[in-house]
Amino acid sequence: EMLVAQSELFSHVQYLPTIGSTQIEAMQKLEHHDGAYMVVAEEQTNGRGRFNREWASPKNRGLYLSLVLRPNIPISEIIRFNLFISLAISKSIDQAFRIESGIKWPNDIYIDKRKVSGFLTEVVSESGVINAIICGIGINIFEDEDIMDLPNATSIEREMDVNVDMDLDDFMEKLIRNIEHYYHRFLNEPFSAIREEWKSRAIVFNKELRITETGESYMAKALDIDDEGFLEVLDRTGEIRKVISADIEL
Ligand code: BTN
Repeated sequence: EMLVAQSELFSHVQYLPTIGSTQIEAMQKLEHHDGAYMVVAEEQTNGRGRFNREWASPKNRGLYLSLVLRPNIPISEIIRFNLFISLAISKSIDQAFRIESGIKWPNDIYIDKRKVSGFLTEVVSESGVINAIICGIGINIFEDEDIMDLPNATSIEREMDVNVDMDLDDFMEKLIRNIEHYYHRFLNEPFSAIREEWKSRAIVFNKELRITETGESYMAKALDIDDEGFLEVLDRTGEIRKVISADIEL
């Protein structure tokens, strides 16, 4: 069994051998726990990704966890939250496994041209104010048919230098520390404080992207990211657009 690092932020950690989805489990616990907590599973039988896609979650092949956080902030801050979290995940992967991962805005972590991790941020709110953020993170660790059959997917194991140790306890420790660090900064600092660091990991700039937003799909080139976390893109008609949240193909 995996050792889940001690955390001041996540006072309560629920560890499950198997579950439908940690995200749903975390959501159902909202009334039973105050404060921040975490649900971790060895396997998910009904793992979900963004846009209601399936998230392959074979037993002990990846990390599947949901974080519950309760910042006292308006719902419009969620985009900024995602930017801080993506940095925490990407950095942890690099530190633990000595590889170079990149952030595919808004919610994916890539190694080269393949996705190794994705996260999903859901919110429970009341009149525009957040009651809870439920952030579900999936990371493909080991090679597995279920994962490898997916187009564009990869695992840490596949991308790693054979000489580097694969220590999952150490990775989990680093992940929790980075999440604590960047979550704290998210609460106290604007995006501009991490903008350069974020940009140095971003893999969406200076290439043609297919952007799908609320049913509309178009090609564009990402130019920059603004202080609110919106992506500024140049479409083929020469128009500059701001993208809030979208599905992006490289
Ligand atoms: C995506 O890339 O579309 C987001 C994937 C999020 C997967 C994680 S695994 C833990 C948590 N439980 C779920 O059912 N989904 C998230």
